[in-house]
Amino acid sequence: MLELSICVGSACHLKGSYDVIEKFKKYINDNNLTNSIIIKAAFCLGHCTEAVSVKFNNKIYSVEPETAEIFLEEIVLTNII
Ligand code: FES
Repeated sequence: MLELSICVGSACHLKGSYDVIEKFKKYINDNNLTNSIIIKAAFCLGHCTEAVSVKFNNKIYSVEPETAEIFLEEIVLTNII
């Protein structure tokens, strides 16, 4: 099971963490990945200037609602296959 932690701290919230979470949820459901990827909300990950911060495999990535799907495909899914 791969785990994604999406920051919902104030800076990330303002930059659209809710939308990032919704995009992740939709992509995961649409592609039958609910048994492979779990998403969690996290408090400030210390990278506020790069919001929205997403933690995956002990690294912090900067993800926007517009890049959420690309992030899943290029960074996360390559760890499943
Ligand atoms: S509020 Fe998201 S990294 Fe600080």
